[in-house]
Amino acid sequence: MRVLVTGSSGQIGTNLALRLQAEGHDVFGVDKRLNPWTDAFPYLLQDLAGHYPATPGGIGGVEYPETDLVVHLAAHAKVHQLVAEPHRALENVVMTFNVLEYARRARLPVVYASSREVYGDIHRFEEVDESTADFAFTESTYSASKISGEAFVYAYARCYDLRYLVFRFSNVYGRYDNDLHRMVRVIPLFIHQIGRGEPITVFGGREKTLDFTYVDDCVEGIVRGVEALGAGRVVDETVNLAYGQGNTLVRVAELIGAELGAEPQMTLAPSLLGEVTRYVADIGRARDLLDWRPATPVDEGIPKAVAWFREHRAAHPDENRPVVADTSVGWKTLAADPS
Ligand SMILES: NC(=O)c1ccc[n+]([C@@H]2O[C@H](COP(=O)([O-])OP(=O)(O)OC[C@H]3O[C@@H](n4cnc5c(N)ncnc54)[C@H](O)[C@@H]3O)[C@@H](O)[C@H]2O)c1
Repeated sequence: MRVLVTGSSGQIGTNLALRLQAEGHDVFGVDKRLNPWTDAFPYLLQDLAGHYPATPGGIGGVEYPETDLVVHLAAHAKVHQLVAEPHRALENVVMTFNVLEYARRARLPVVYASSREVYGDIHRFEEVDESTADFAFTESTYSASKISGEAFVYAYARCYDLRYLVFRFSNVYGRYDNDLHRMVRVIPLFIHQIGRGEPITVFGGREKTLDFTYVDDCVEGIVRGVEALGAGRVVDETVNLAYGQGNTLVRVAELIGAELGAEPQMTLAPSLLGEVTRYVADIGRARDLLDWRPATPVDEGIPKAVAWFREHRAAHPDENRPVVADTSVGWKTLAADPS
């Protein structure tokens, strides 16, 4: 298949594009940033959040190559940042609208990257299946952007026969997730800080429990979805992709510490505004529809993530500088290391 991947310079996009290529598919990426990891697939630098008129061959008057299916990953994907800067949530919705308009005109099926954030901060269920989304529990502007994106996908399916799969991801970690200047996510941040002997803060405290997904498992699920949707075998479904097990953030920090041979110095703090503090996915639907089973529990995935991080850091020693808390958006890197 010829697959157009938006957000192709991001963590999931890069892993997915390389994997699709390895499976023999043609990949064309679109992202507003250069890909910092690879030049193995072609992509277009384009900001998808403009208010573009839709055109048959692409978005904003740009002609994309012939395409069979779109995987729409492009988004501002950082919860705290969207709480501090809500216009970015609106940009997520505009990007999704542009992609859907393009797909409608070109009659292409779409895989949409949603999030467990659509469920809110769920302490109501042991495990969360796809039917339990209740938008009265919209936790953050990021959640609102994903709920809106899903709503547009469902509306396009009803009104224009768009064929879709919606995947709800949860804490994807591993390879190509280290650009701390741009996108500070908790696992690379903890690897960075524990590795430097710095204290870490666990927002949400000892009980905070999330469903951490190793990136290869996530990508395996998307690839199965792409192939099933492209062949018309699985159409118009909304599917959780996660490991299906809860782990506390404290345990994840301890696993990272064990891997780095360092005892984490942990401070427990209340959760940040808009954060989900408990989520465990019911992954039965992904198993039933896509015959997909995640293969990497955290005690195997964290060592892989740490090994990748170390290898990357060895090649980029300049990145070994402090990352500091920013009360408005979470964390940011210091421009220069004073130490
Ligand atoms: N990684 C996770 O844990 C996770 C969890 C739930 C949902 N998701 C969703 O999955 C998708 C991919 O996430 P990721 O982890 O790879 O995030 P990422 O931030 O690494 O990648 C997103 C990409 O989108 C691009 N982008 C942002 N705004 C753009 C614009 N206006 N025009 C063009 N490109 C733009 C960014 O440059 C970036 O490369 C996102 O939609 C995210 O919300 C991710």
